[in-house]
Amino acid sequence: MTATVESTSGTRGKVPEVSKDAVLVALKILRYNPEVDDAPHWETYDIPALPTDRVLNLLHYVKWYIDGTLTFRRSCAHGICGSDAMQINGINRLACKVLVKDLLARKGKTTTITLAPIKGLEARKDLLVDMEPFFEAFRAVKPYLITYGNEPTRERIQSVADRERFDDTTKCILCACCTTSCPVYWTDGSYFGPAAIVNAHRFIFDSRDEGAGDRLDILNDTEGVWRCRTTFNCTDACPRGIQVTKAIQEVKRALLFRR
Ligand code: SF4
Ligand code: SF4
Ligand code: FES
Repeated sequence: MTATVESTSGTRGKVPEVSKDAVLVALKILRYNPEVDDAPHWETYDIPALPTDRVLNLLHYVKWYIDGTLTFRRSCAHGICGSDAMQINGINRLACKVLVKDLLARKGKTTTITLAPIKGLEARKDLLVDMEPFFEAFRAVKPYLITYGNEPTRERIQSVADRERFDDTTKCILCACCTTSCPVYWTDGSYFGPAAIVNAHRFIFDSRDEGAGDRLDILNDTEGVWRCRTTFNCTDACPRGIQVTKAIQEVKRALLFRR
């Protein structure tokens, strides 16, 4: 499949020629348009795809050549911006990071790939969800360097070991795959959720930061770290390989140690 056609919502490009190496994929998408639908419903699109295509390519194919109203987020297309998280065959993943060949059924069979919005956040249209509650929790843990006293006259020095202490949690791209795979978050959207705790961890364990006490107070709340049931869904879902549950446990330990 070529992916060179630029699209604008609602427009259709010229369908590209089908490669001889293409396989037929039945792309089953949970569609929802609040202006016309009472409830979400499944629609299936038969699409020729190369095994090396990413799921994002399939979405582009539908949007550009079949139905320009299909709505989803994406930006970088390279696993960096975190905007195209969705359930792919029931598992939270980034559409730009999953290859068709990794989802193919046995040879000769048409593969069905299902796409649905991430759970726990309100679906606004098709695969697009309202991310505001997610970012609200992120902002609530003060995800920035806090220092007190006079500004230093030179850079804040940090050892390699001190930097490594929170290296894992710096990799977060705020995709929400973890938080929206958490059963606690599904049942109680007030829970801060693993992504917010990961981003608190990133600063709590930064030797230059002086706001750890504030963040620990926030996460000691009834909707904070103690809600976590250590089920590891979040760790399994993270496309950046962050040890999310371990980070949550470290924040819990920091709270216990502080006591
Ligand atoms: S380990 Fe905790 S935060 Fe992660 S999915 Fe399980 S309950 Fe949710
Ligand atoms: S911790 Fe991983 S899954 Fe969670 S928001 Fe950050 S990058 Fe996404
Ligand atoms: S489009 Fe940016 S992470 Fe997938």
